[in-house]
Amino acid sequence: METAEIVKLFRAKAKLIKPSAVEALKGRPDEEVNRIADVLCSRDSPVITESDVHEQTNDAKTPDFVEVKRASDFHPTAKEYGHEFKVQEEWDVTGRSKCSGTLDDFVKYMNDRYQRTKEVLLSRPSRNRVLRIELLDSMQPGNEVRLIGLVSRKLLTKNKHFMLDIEDDSGLTTILVLNDKRVGSTYDKATRVINDEVIAVDIKIGTNLKIATDITWPDVPLKPKKTIEKDLSIAYIADTHIGSMHFQAKSFEGMLKWLNGNGPHKEIAEKIGYLMVGGDIADGIGNYPHQEKELVIKDVFEQYALFNKFMELVPDHIEIIVIPGNHDAVRHAEPQPAMDKTMIAENGRTISLSNPAHVTIEGLKTQMYHGYSMQALIADVPGLSFARPEEISMEFLKRRNFANIYDKNTLSPEHKDYMFTEECDMLFSAHVHKIGYSEYHGCVLMNSGTWLDKTTAWQLRLGFIPTPAVMGVYNMKTGHVAHLDFNKSEAAVQ
Ligand SMILES: [Fe+2]
Repeated sequence: METAEIVKLFRAKAKLIKPSAVEALKGRPDEEVNRIADVLCSRDSPVITESDVHEQTNDAKTPDFVEVKRASDFHPTAKEYGHEFKVQEEWDVTGRSKCSGTLDDFVKYMNDRYQRTKEVLLSRPSRNRVLRIELLDSMQPGNEVRLIGLVSRKLLTKNKHFMLDIEDDSGLTTILVLNDKRVGSTYDKATRVINDEVIAVDIKIGTNLKIATDITWPDVPLKPKKTIEKDLSIAYIADTHIGSMHFQAKSFEGMLKWLNGNGPHKEIAEKIGYLMVGGDIADGIGNYPHQEKELVIKDVFEQYALFNKFMELVPDHIEIIVIPGNHDAVRHAEPQPAMDKTMIAENGRTISLSNPAHVTIEGLKTQMYHGYSMQALIADVPGLSFARPEEISMEFLKRRNFANIYDKNTLSPEHKDYMFTEECDMLFSAHVHKIGYSEYHGCVLMNSGTWLDKTTAWQLRLGFIPTPAVMGVYNMKTGHVAHLDFNKSEAAVQ
């Protein structure tokens, strides 16, 4: 079938077809094109991509490898600065995992979370004195106190009041939050309280009940955004999912060429001194039902081998920092240890760290977290959405934890809560495949997109379209961000 006929066929079925998908169908027998059109047009997705076609024709190939040459007029200024980079080892779980899943492990894990977060909450101003829960019985009706504890259960009564079970290291009590839906009310705050987080609750003691008068999260203090003297930038990518037939190899190669000074916006490329890679490097194997049908590289180590080959094409003055995600071949439970050298090649300037990871880049305290827990937060906190991942990153900082809700995340009960978030200057997250940027209390929030050319029916139902082939670049001197779009043949700033 020829181009015009293919376009007409899909238009008649009210679908948009990408030019690369038309190319993939061109010249095939009419019968085959009609069959593929029937299958693809029965799906929710409004756009037909090249990988959709490959999925049906079963002729998707391992990405061809291209040669990337440095442009002769490319003079990266970042090279002159060198690197000032330090890993905060005490936050890296690699080789430090101590738990085996016993009750004692869980007690130590939750206690560590409680103690760390309590320290933060104790430094917050309060009109009420902080009381241990075991001393509540000695209080008189009318007394007001502050409790600091872990939310062990949150319930909504039939009259739409909230009941919060709050637990500290001395006991457990139930607090009532009265139904009062004014914005900013204690009730409004209670709608955002999640299980297993540590909060401060101001209460008024009644004859039978303890009524909440305010709720305080540990949060990070407000501070001015920190910038540096050197004119250096950090690029950030994640969710490459190498091995998937949906991996946009051409766009990824376009990005590598651009990093080497080819194409427009050289002035941005030449300042890049660091590349953060935020997990889901490989698509992996067995991560979801029938994944093998969507894989062009079925051996997970070959998926990493291709990633390593790509990384060799990153200019060698750029330091590469890699953490795993939920698709990668390390344990799924968070915190995840670093991918070892059988996955991420040692080349002197690529560093493989745990998820989450804490590093200092040019004096800026930075946390990297793949972001698996984002789904649980979206489900339990009103107003959060996959479309605005930067708002989820803000919640990580407000709650001082990357993953509080135990039964909705996959967490390993380490004796130290590695998911605790520190005060920082930059926070990088990924996972939801949507690029984002914001600032919160002086901390820069970076969220990366994906390199998969795929919108699942599930994403569409959520009204969410991912951002494939877009790389973020944050300049640490100016404090400006640029989003580089590699979907077309030339890089474009979004
Ligand atoms: Fe992920």
